[in-house]
Amino acid sequence: MGKYIIGITGASGAIYGMRLIEECLKAGHEIFLTITKSGRIVIKEELNMDLDLNVEMIEDRLLDYFKVSKDVFTYYDIDHISSAIASGSFRTDGMIIAPCSMATVSAIAHGSSTNLLERAADVILKEGKPMILIPRETPLSAIHLENLLKLARLGVKIIPPMPSFYTHPKTIDDIVNNTVGRILDQLNIEHNLCKRWS
Ligand SMILES: Cc1cc2nc3c(=O)[nH]c(=O)nc-3n(C[C@H](O)[C@H](O)[C@H](O)COP(=O)(O)O)c2cc1C
Repeated sequence: MGKYIIGITGASGAIYGMRLIEECLKAGHEIFLTITKSGRIVIKEELNMDLDLNVEMIEDRLLDYFKVSKDVFTYYDIDHISSAIASGSFRTDGMIIAPCSMATVSAIAHGSSTNLLERAADVILKEGKPMILIPRETPLSAIHLENLLKLARLGVKIIPPMPSFYTHPKTIDDIVNNTVGRILDQLNIEHNLCKRWS
C-alpha cells in the first residue's frame, strides 16, 4: 500500500484535508501528517477541533478521530525539522497539501523550506515525486497565479476545490467529496465518493 505525506495549512477548507486522510486510511494507505500553526487555528475555527496541545496529545487526538493505530498514521510537529519526511532518503509515494494557503504556495514555489511542511514539499519536488495542491483563496492575485503556474510547470497537480454542479450536490459533504474524489483519482485510489458522468 502507498505511503503519503499530507499537509494541512491555514487556508479555509480544513475538512478537505481531514476527509482525504479518512479516505486514504480507509483504502489501506499509510499517512504522515503535518499541520501548520495557522492550519491548527483554522481547524479549530471550522471543525471545532482543538489541537492546541503537545505533539503526543495531538497525535492521540487524531488517532482517536480517524480510529486507526500508530502503524498507519504518524503526526509530525511543524517545527520538527529532523522528522523522516524532511529527508529525500525517506521513501514515500507523494504529498498532498489540502487545503493549501497562498503563503505555502509561495513558499513552495520559492523553495523557502521554513517549516517541516515546506521542507517536505521541497524534498518531494527535488525527488520528482507526485505532488498535489488544493489551493484555496478568492479572488486570486497575479502573484498567486504566477506561483501556481510555476508549480504546475514543475508537474505539480493543482486541484482547486471547485465542485461540479451537474452532479447535483445536496450537502456540504457532497461538495467536499466531489473534490476529495478528484484528488483520489489522481492518486489512482479507488473510491465511491462522487457520481461520475456517464
Ligand atoms: C479562518 C481563516 C481562514 C483563512 N483562509 C485562507 C484562505 O482560504 N486562503 C489563504 O491563502 N489564506 C487563508 N488564511 C490566512 C492564512 O492562514 C495565513 O496566510 C497564514 O499565514 C498561512 O500560513 P500557513 O501557510 O503556514 O498555514 C485564513 C486564515 C484564517 C484565520
